[in-house]
Amino acid sequence: MAKTRTLYTCSACGAESPQWAGQCSDCGGWNTLSEVVVFSKQTASRFSGYSGEAALAIQRLSEVKVDQQLRTSVGMQELDRVLGGGLVAGSVVLIGGDPGIGKSTLLLQVLSTLSGRLDSLYVTGEESLQQISLRASRLGIKGDEIRLYSETSVERIVAAADRERPQVMVLDSIQTLYTEALQSAPGSVAQVRESAAQLVRFAKQSGIAMFLVGHVTKDGQLAGPRVLEHMVDTVLYFEGDPGDRYRILRAIKNRFGAVNELGVFAMTESGLKEVANPSAIFLSRHEQAVPGSVVMVTWEGTRPMLVEVQALVDQSQLGNPRRVTLGLEQNRLSMLLAVLHRHGGLALGDHDVFVNVVGGVRVSETAADLAVLLAVISSYRNRPLPADLIVFGEIGLSGELRPVPNGQQRLSEAAKHGFHTAIIPAANKPKAALQGLEVTAVNRLSQVLDKISEA
Ligand code: TYD
Ligand code: MG
Repeated sequence: MAKTRTLYTCSACGAESPQWAGQCSDCGGWNTLSEVVVFSKQTASRFSGYSGEAALAIQRLSEVKVDQQLRTSVGMQELDRVLGGGLVAGSVVLIGGDPGIGKSTLLLQVLSTLSGRLDSLYVTGEESLQQISLRASRLGIKGDEIRLYSETSVERIVAAADRERPQVMVLDSIQTLYTEALQSAPGSVAQVRESAAQLVRFAKQSGIAMFLVGHVTKDGQLAGPRVLEHMVDTVLYFEGDPGDRYRILRAIKNRFGAVNELGVFAMTESGLKEVANPSAIFLSRHEQAVPGSVVMVTWEGTRPMLVEVQALVDQSQLGNPRRVTLGLEQNRLSMLLAVLHRHGGLALGDHDVFVNVVGGVRVSETAADLAVLLAVISSYRNRPLPADLIVFGEIGLSGELRPVPNGQQRLSEAAKHGFHTAIIPAANKPKAALQGLEVTAVNRLSQVLDKISEA
């Protein structure tokens, strides 16, 4: 094989340099240079399909044939749901998450449920074959039809897969793989990106569906799967506290389905079990109502889910009080506190504010605004809100309550779980009354404050 040439390009401005340097000589950015492979003209056109004839393959949109049997159910409804209805041949799915959250476990189970229908190959660069075998016996998987391959060279993996022709492949994990084309160490951004690029190319050519496993650290995106997100078809992230029982699999990107769809699993003694009706699993039922706790109904993908938002407001010892969020957006909290000051008359400039969504759940929708503020107020006043209260609603900068999608379904879900009162935006007021649920529909934040002070 001809030796491929590599050079270093700047991720900020694209400047090229034959050698690595700490600072880009063009734009002056620090630590932006990473190694890339230079293809000769011939190989470049072979890979990209730019050569003469391929460019002529132009079709009318209406003439494009869609293969009907594209999807294969993976045998786990919760995973099918996040994949958008099943596994697509030739697609590449990236599964990211903290170490120990259950990525390898899930994929081994998937290959097991797929066996008999799809030929599989599990490539491990991380664990030994014995470790995988131990996990399999713990999961009760016999594994007659699962082929294992312990290898970290992408070139050899591709060659083996080309020979064996599995229909679905797992690569665990992308951080351990390396391509011989680059000199950088496995796990570096350049290696992760180039290895993934080769695998994606191979998946498209061969029609093999691939699961790539990627680790993310709590803060770190560096060398993590983030650089891969634009290359692959689907990006799924495992959320949840590894010490906790429940795991959420969320679709961040999906070329074959809806994003923000959730799958919920429980980690048990014998692997991951699907949680078919997850709406109330994250609720911690307190013996009695506690200050700083509010239950909200969030809408995740196509389902409502009840989650508890907790706040702690405490006199600050620092010149610059802290605003800390877990499971919510931090800037949004700062904004909400400003709205609370301006339109609710409550100044928290000398208080630390901590807000947490219970159970390691991440809530990204603005419908959490009202719950966050009510939890903050409740903690500040040290007065609990009624235990049977649920809320949702977006708060605007002028102190108005804005409607959120699927109001009616959110309320029915709350009623189903035994909540008796609700505070929601006026525009979400249901047309017909819901049995057992007293709904207060309000226009402005000030009305909410009046409502909870009279309680
Ligand atoms: P693993 O799939 O190895 O995580 P990842 O590949 O994301 O790093 O999961 C490891 C954790 O799951 C470990 O803490 C043990 C736990 N576990 C169970 O609780 N039950 C099981 O049946 C299995 C296989 C693992
Ligand atoms: Mg693993």
